[in-house]
Amino acid sequence: MADSRFAAGEMVLLTSQKGKTWLVRAGEGSFSSHLGNVDLNDVVGREEGECLETTQGAKVFLFRPSLTDYIFKLKRKTQIIYPKDIGAFLVYGDIRPGDVVLESGIGSGALTLALLRAVGPEGKVVSVEKRPEFAQLARRHIERFFGGPPLNHELVVGDIESVPVRCTADRVVLDVPEPWHAVGPVSEHLRTGGLLLSWSPNVGQVQLVYKELKAHGYANVTTFELLKRNWKIDERRARPEDRMVAHTGFITVAKKIVRTSGEAPPTIRDPEAPVPK
Ligand SMILES: C[S@@+](CC[C@H](N)C(=O)[O-])C[C@H]1O[C@@H](n2cnc3c(N)ncnc32)[C@H](O)[C@@H]1O
Repeated sequence: MADSRFAAGEMVLLTSQKGKTWLVRAGEGSFSSHLGNVDLNDVVGREEGECLETTQGAKVFLFRPSLTDYIFKLKRKTQIIYPKDIGAFLVYGDIRPGDVVLESGIGSGALTLALLRAVGPEGKVVSVEKRPEFAQLARRHIERFFGGPPLNHELVVGDIESVPVRCTADRVVLDVPEPWHAVGPVSEHLRTGGLLLSWSPNVGQVQLVYKELKAHGYANVTTFELLKRNWKIDERRARPEDRMVAHTGFITVAKKIVRTSGEAPPTIRDPEAPVPK
């Protein structure tokens, strides 16, 4: 079993008793907040869940950040894909170890982090980003998370509608404002049988993507959104939280197939939807 103690240089999520969190590195300087100071050398060698006392006597717990924790600590210069939607991309996009994923744009890198983990060292993520400053920001976020530049990542600065990319992808993932313009160009890089996923906040965008997918012979075009509602559960209460993020965006998934003359491509029934009587 791997040693569960914090090593020097590891990321640590300091967590107050009220649930406020700070991302720091074990053994690197000191942490100060309204709760007082903690010498971060004292974190090295501790176990997850142990707590330290600040100079003002407050307790801070030591946790390893999950990918979700890390994503919400990113310096966000763009809208990001939320973890609930990231999960859907990975599962409904059937993204597997060893896959080659062509992605655009990279934004703050939230989705890219999950894609890189999902495809693993045998796979590859090629990210195309138009704006150099976002490419640079995302690269920083990714390198901090993985402890250096991941070997399974290629970042191309350019416009997904025109930049030359050298890859044949198993999956294409689009999170750009006008994804319908990208469907044609990226389809040249997607293998037959591969899936294209697109994320858009507005339904008008989704319809334009749908038209392009149909024009390029995609099958099984499905669109959905996911709503995540947390609940308050304790000894006295068991009810939904008063507030939630009601809408993030729509996810469209489609399969690239060989074109057959005259035949309309099929649309399968959603296996999760109840069968009509
Ligand atoms: C909403 S952000 C992507 C957020 C990202 N998925 C994440 O989870 O952090 C959209 C990105 O697409 C980039 N973009 C817009 N149009 C583009 C294009 N035609 N080609 C490449 N990148 C583009 C923008 O610069 C921006 O960084």
